[in-house]
Amino acid sequence: MRKQLKLRLLFFSILISLGIYFCAIAQNPQKTIVNGGNYTDTSGKIINAHGGGFLKAGKYYYWIGENRHDQVLVSCYRSTDLINWEFRGDLLTRQSNPELVNANIERPKVIYNEKTKKFVMWMHYEISSDYSYARAAVAVSDDIEKPFKYLKSFRPFGNMSRDCTLFKDTDGTAYFLSAARENYDMMVYKLTDDYLDTKEHLLTLWPGGHREAPALVKRGDYYFMITSGCTGWAPNQAKYAYAKSIRGPWSDLTDIGNSTTFDSQSTYILPIEGNETTSYLYVGDRWDGNHYFNSRYIFLPLTFKGETSVELSWKDSVAPDLKSGRIN
Ligand code: GAL
Repeated sequence: MRKQLKLRLLFFSILISLGIYFCAIAQNPQKTIVNGGNYTDTSGKIINAHGGGFLKAGKYYYWIGENRHDQVLVSCYRSTDLINWEFRGDLLTRQSNPELVNANIERPKVIYNEKTKKFVMWMHYEISSDYSYARAAVAVSDDIEKPFKYLKSFRPFGNMSRDCTLFKDTDGTAYFLSAARENYDMMVYKLTDDYLDTKEHLLTLWPGGHREAPALVKRGDYYFMITSGCTGWAPNQAKYAYAKSIRGPWSDLTDIGNSTTFDSQSTYILPIEGNETTSYLYVGDRWDGNHYFNSRYIFLPLTFKGETSVELSWKDSVAPDLKSGRIN
């Protein structure tokens, strides 16, 4: 009897401690991004935005990425400091369209089209366990926090399309980059003015180079692209290249970070424009291939040296200062 009482007491005290812990997490805004840590949203739940991208809309930064829980495919979070993220909803679910019932959606990215006033999402659409379907897909929404309308999946100019990203240039032209030909080639496509289709196949980058996980940014007169090698969920050495025009010529590939890119794979390069400077955050997925939901993220500052050289070093935690544009 006494033993039962003790057990009950123990059970309730554990419950209460857990409650206090999660309330503390939910109420206390975090001051830094702890790299590789238990990255949780403002309600204390693990953030599910893998292979994701970022964009600024109004006073918020949005983080949109893969969420493979139950019926969900793509989820949306928002933040005013890039540290504390509030879950805002699911943008694509298996119910969004019959084509999505059995699909796997990877690396979703969203950009805003000023002319149509719509948010446009591109992603890798897969229904084959060996990734042989290899298609791009497009969805659209008037509101970044509301469910997107799924439009279609296709192969751009007949090419396979796996790991991908979107890039919107300063003149409003948008580009879709994706790994083609069993990941041998990295394709660069120019999008139509409404961003809903590919208009031109601009380039086949590093043919036979086996690059994936592309992330692209413009700094000064140069475009920089970080890609990974192709080793599935296992991390490998990231490389970067630069060019004065998206149409090229692009430089050769140069190693960046260490041999495992600090146990991560590139997903995005996020510019932080402040009143003192503009900094660039490398965002990578720290995949757990055996337990996908255990995957984490890392955020590291990119250090540019001169116009065409860039480095990535480890930091246990980072604190972006959105006012100055510096990353502490
Ligand atoms: C990686 C790719 C991920 C996912 C994974 C599956 O190479 O970047 O997005 O497709 O393979 O093994």
